Order: sequence, then structure tokens, then C-alpha cells
Amino acid sequence: MNKIIIAIDGYSSSGKSTMARDLAKRIGYVYVDSGAMYRAVTLYAIEHGMASAEKGVDTEALVKALPEINISFTPAGADGVQHTLLNGKDVEREIRDMQVSSLVSPVAVIPEVRHRQTALQQQYGREKGIVMDGRDIGTTVFPDAEMKVFVNASAEERARRRVKELTDKGEKVTYEEVLENIRERDHIDTTRKESPLRKAPDAVLLDNDNMTIAQQMQWLLDLYHSKCPE
Ligand code: DC
Repeated sequence: MNKIIIAIDGYSSSGKSTMARDLAKRIGYVYVDSGAMYRAVTLYAIEHGMASAEKGVDTEALVKALPEINISFTPAGADGVQHTLLNGKDVEREIRDMQVSSLVSPVAVIPEVRHRQTALQQQYGREKGIVMDGRDIGTTVFPDAEMKVFVNASAEERARRRVKELTDKGEKVTYEEVLENIRERDHIDTTRKESPLRKAPDAVLLDNDNMTIAQQMQWLLDLYHSKCPE
């Protein structure tokens, strides 16, 4: 059967990564988390003194350092989870913490950062058979993707999910700070000049406020089978 490209875009913490990863596992596709790539660049910037809560992001220094930032992924484990590697080091845990989350959107507005990640993402899609999630996958990275989904849920519901995810991992966060971070990221992601978060005209909207993970998976599988009948 011909393999296709599946683009899943949407707001922060809308559950799109879980959805995209589970779908890839079910249909035997490769999954790529494009947000992890922007997070890894942000972690590099923090570790090298180019980004902090106090000073913001030193764009010039970061753009100069881009050739030294190599991002790759480990193959997916039995659970479908891949780990992100920054210059060969496993940073999967570090890229999910609040410090990275609060600096990633300003890093992701930098055009040079975006061009480099976009080129890498397009290479991953050369052979098709890929599910990629992010903000601009259906609009900029793969405008010709055969299946496009745009995921949304209310900011409050997304904050509740994110607090649970972070506290399950042992991070101490409050609902208020997480909600504020989500609102701030929504604002930056939707208003930036370069590849802002937008629903592609041919993307199908999935509003998952009141859906279980199982219901979402069925919805996605139905859409996939309508594109790729067996
Ligand atoms: O999906 P995520 O929350 O891990 O993404 C982290 C940040 O990266 C998000 O705030 C915006 C940015 N991002 C982007 O600009 N373009 C993408 N394709 C994916 C993520």
C-alpha cells in the first residue's frame, strides 16, 4: 500500500504528540516530534548562556551556534517512545521541563532556527510513511501532506492535562503558572511572522476537549482509512 505523510498540528499540550505517536505505532509509520527539535535547540541555548528567564534569548549568538547543534532521535522503543538526542546526548527529560517550556516559543520565532529545523523535518519525510506533529507541519513543512489534522482544546483543559503530566514526573508546578505559560505560548505561536500556528485550509479540525484518548484514536484511524483504504 502507498504510504502517505500525516501532519498533526495544534496548540501546546493539546495531546497531539500522544495522538501522533500512538497513530504511528498502530499503522507502522515513523513518528517525529518536531516540537522536541525546537526544545532541544532551546536547551542548548540555556546550557550555553544564550537564553535565560532574566535576559531572554541572545538571537545573534544562537544563530551563530546553529551549525554546532545536532539533533537526532533514538529509534522508538516498544512503547513507541523515541528519545531526543542533542549532540548525541539523551535530553528527553530535560527538554520537557518548565525552564525549556517557557523559553522555547521565543527561540522558535527565530527564522534561522526554523529554516534549519524545517529542512531536517523535510528530510525525515522523504520516504513518506511518517506522522509528524507540530505547529506548521501541514502549512510549511509538508504543505502537500495527504492527511492533515488540526487539534484544539480549551487552554484550561490543556493546562489541567499538562499539570498532571508534570506532577506525575515529580515536577512541582501550579495550575496558574502552567495556564499562563500555555496562554503565552499560544500568543507567540499564533502571532509570530514566520510560519505562525494556523489551521491549513485542507486540515480536518479535531476539538478534543471532551474526547477520551481511545475516541481520538478511533477518529484518527477512521480518517486514515478514508485516505488509505486497505
Ligand atoms: O509541541 P511542543 O509543545 O513540544 O512545542 C514546543 C514549542 O516549539 C512550541 O511552543 C512552539 C514550537 N514549535 C514550532 O514553532 N513549530 C513546530 N513545528 C513545533 C513546535
